[in-house]
Amino acid sequence: MHPNTRQIKIQRNLVEKILKNESIRTICENLYGNKKINIFQEYQNRLRTKHMGIRIVKPNSPVSGVHAESNSSPGWDPVTLWCPLVGLDKKYTLRISPKSHKKKHPLNQIVKDKKYLAKAYSKKYLKKFKFHRPNMKVGQAIVFHPNLLHGGSSCKGTSCRVSVEIRIMREEHFVKKKNYYILPNKSKRKIRLSNKYLNKKYYN
Ligand SMILES: [Fe+2]
Repeated sequence: MHPNTRQIKIQRNLVEKILKNESIRTICENLYGNKKINIFQEYQNRLRTKHMGIRIVKPNSPVSGVHAESNSSPGWDPVTLWCPLVGLDKKYTLRISPKSHKKKHPLNQIVKDKKYLAKAYSKKYLKKFKFHRPNMKVGQAIVFHPNLLHGGSSCKGTSCRVSVEIRIMREEHFVKKKNYYILPNKSKRKIRLSNKYLNKKYYN
């Protein structure tokens, strides 16, 4: 299964709960002002709203390196909500570097890697930062800034890790079509295109 097809539609009342959550609202207002926000997921060659991504990682399988969401393209600056479903302790959870979002991460420290969409930073650059994997409780989530360093979170437990991610961004950064959005022409980001879907009507 193509990785960006593992998604679940979020119930309307949960969408409201997320977007009205006080912590999330405060973070979004600080970042985006009063711009209209929404929940977006890359889906095949488009962006659809009000869906969460499901991530499944096998024990000790390769994972993307440490990155920040905001380095990938102009207009791509999501506030991310990461919530573990299976694997709550630090052998499983997201690896984050607290306060790293306050630093401007230099683009020349990104390593070349075509395998992952996330643009990982060099080991040399990352030496300056302290990383932490929190022990979490059922129902807890990590909400993080688009410039926070995170990732390289291999699954060190004996079970697969299952987590969901929800990305919140400004609607104005995308071009609205009927019932989905696309990236503006100037965007350098590549949605994980899969040609076999291009001629099919998956979006109605
Ligand atoms: Fe990420």
